[in-house]
Amino acid sequence: MKKRIGVLTSGGDCPGLNAVLRGIVRAASTQGWETIGFKDGFEGLLPSGGDYMVLDRKVTAGIMHLGGTILGTTNKGHFVAKAGDGGGMRVPAHVLDQAKRVLAELQIEALIAIGGDGSMTTALQLSQAGVPIIGVPKTIDNDLEATAMTFGFDSAVACVADALDRLHTTASSHKRVMVIEVMGRHAGWIALYGGLAGGGDVILIPEIPFDYEKVAQCVREREDDGCLSTLIVVAEGARPVQGRKKMQATASGEYRMGGIGEIVAHEVATRTGKETRTCVLGHLQRGGAPTTLDRILGTRFGVKAVELIQRGKFGHMVSYQNYEVRSVPIEDAVNRLRLIAPDNQVVQAARAVDVSFGD
Ligand code: F6P
Repeated sequence: MKKRIGVLTSGGDCPGLNAVLRGIVRAASTQGWETIGFKDGFEGLLPSGGDYMVLDRKVTAGIMHLGGTILGTTNKGHFVAKAGDGGGMRVPAHVLDQAKRVLAELQIEALIAIGGDGSMTTALQLSQAGVPIIGVPKTIDNDLEATAMTFGFDSAVACVADALDRLHTTASSHKRVMVIEVMGRHAGWIALYGGLAGGGDVILIPEIPFDYEKVAQCVREREDDGCLSTLIVVAEGARPVQGRKKMQATASGEYRMGGIGEIVAHEVATRTGKETRTCVLGHLQRGGAPTTLDRILGTRFGVKAVELIQRGKFGHMVSYQNYEVRSVPIEDAVNRLRLIAPDNQVVQAARAVDVSFGD
């Protein structure tokens, strides 16, 4: 019988996941291995309700340019190892045992889990329970310390830049202030890169608390200089120095962000008297075709995951460092966020071209 490996995609989707799957299947089949894809994240590993499909070259042909994941995904269910507010949890022992049994019955010799920090925490618990597992990092927010970059981020940045290009023409025609709210719970990478690429005038990120009055002042100063429209990019996790209520759980126990764009727009309109509009970009940033960079990074991550199986480096996660795809122990990768340092070069470059961070 052929050696068999398993793969699953877990957590929020992002462009480039299918490129990883295609990379894994092709690299594995070159080794003569068979790949089984578990559906809907770790839930696919459940003995009842779980589901899987054989992934071969045919099934994964023509998926490189597709957003989302052909396997489906979830950030909920039986294997959640992190609460929405970031708190750690244990996956129940019987759930881990069930997953081990399913993998054994299917004669899966190694499992590749593609996901973000929460999914890597689940992967670590499976690894500690004896499952030979390899992690592939995925976070659109690009906020994992253990990897300099993840696929999906560049596509999200391109989406923000495109939106700003569009907002620019309508804002200048109406001489308005446009506030665009983008993703980024703890880290403002999408706002910073997307904002800079799209010519944003104000960029508000979680790492630099902002002052409403400073933002309003920037709008007024631009007006005095003859710039009658202003583009403000705000990350969903950005916080004013004036304080803001914490992320709240919904009735179903989910933690959702959002709403800061509308608040910023209201404050700016009140303080400047300028006509102001808000645009929440939301999940548009997570959909659509991956950029070429994300297709290549995704493919390289998939190929590396197969190589790590071949070398028996279980309990490791693929990581991108100094333009090379390497690996780190999953244990060292989880719970470590990569935030934007105040003296970050990109922040400095943005300040040098008159971008205000509202501080
Ligand atoms: O963590 C990635 C992320 O895209 C965040 O930027 C955003 O707050 C969240 O996921 C949205 O999650 P959901 O798809 O569950 O609404």
